[in-house]
Amino acid sequence: MKNHLLKTCVLLSLLLALLQLTPALAETVLVTGSNQGIGLEFAKQYAARGWTVIATHRRDTPPETLAALQQQYPKVRVEQMDVTKHDQIEALAAKMKGEPIDILLNNAALIRFAPFRDREGNAGQMFGTLNYDHFDQFMHTNVAGPLKIAEAFVENVKASKLKLMVTISSGAGIVSVLPRSADHYWYRTSKAALNSAMRLLTVDLADEGITVVMFHPGGVQVESWGETKLPGAMTHEEAIGKMTKTIDGLTIKDSGRFLNNDGTDMPW
Ligand SMILES: NC(=O)c1ccc[n+]([C@@H]2O[C@H](COP(=O)([O-])OP(=O)(O)OC[C@H]3O[C@@H](n4cnc5c(N)ncnc54)[C@H](OP(=O)(O)O)[C@@H]3O)[C@@H](O)[C@H]2O)c1
Repeated sequence: MKNHLLKTCVLLSLLLALLQLTPALAETVLVTGSNQGIGLEFAKQYAARGWTVIATHRRDTPPETLAALQQQYPKVRVEQMDVTKHDQIEALAAKMKGEPIDILLNNAALIRFAPFRDREGNAGQMFGTLNYDHFDQFMHTNVAGPLKIAEAFVENVKASKLKLMVTISSGAGIVSVLPRSADHYWYRTSKAALNSAMRLLTVDLADEGITVVMFHPGGVQVESWGETKLPGAMTHEEAIGKMTKTIDGLTIKDSGRFLNNDGTDMPW
């Protein structure tokens, strides 16, 4: 009996040692616009899980937030990629050729040019003073950007285990429910167009086994809002925690869905 117990203990210790030697599952996520706000929190939460995080940004020098994250988690790789600059997208895709990407997370977006409550600064997105050059920039960033990134990295996603393309859209893109106020014309219309583009991608990538979903993250209090506080806005941790949990449960059957952070369906 004593002998049997000893043998079991030795076996268990061997098993434990083996588990410790086995490398953790090497999932990879690529996040756009990851130097602040929602993108940074996604990068933090996946890095904390031990994932390889390709943390991309559009700045000329690596942002301090990402340098700090990389110091804490050596599997974080900081890369420059402005989502409107095709040369930068293609350069990163060439650098990552053959590397699987489990989650391609299109998060970067142009929301407004001036602080939240600055009506004058945001007049270019208000009827009567619409700035049509701004429209091009919104569409270029929020619609063409995610599409170009999907085209550039599709082989990496195909080669991965999870095969997910996740795009952070917004409730601002809903057209079936009238908005409470008519503001952010370009942002809202670009998010509606983004949802349409992702539905096309869903159909195109179905045979590859790639799951494409869009998220409304909820109201998330981000640094770029400055002093503005919206009632009911969530912290980064809470909102992104809900989304990562929802992402964990996604299957190909979810492809094409527009999701709230908790995995329930959003109206279109
Ligand atoms: N916060 C919310 O309540 C909320 C609600 C609904 C939807 N969303 C969506 O959530 C996503 C993240 O928004 P957020 O609230 O975290 O905003 P944010 O704090 O302003 O972050 C936006 C990020 O996108 C980056 N970005 C902008 N243009 C870019 C470009 N051309 N190339 C690469 N990166 C670019 C920004 O970089 P810089 O730092 O260099 O400007 C920044 O890192 C967006 O898609 C937004 O529409 C947010």
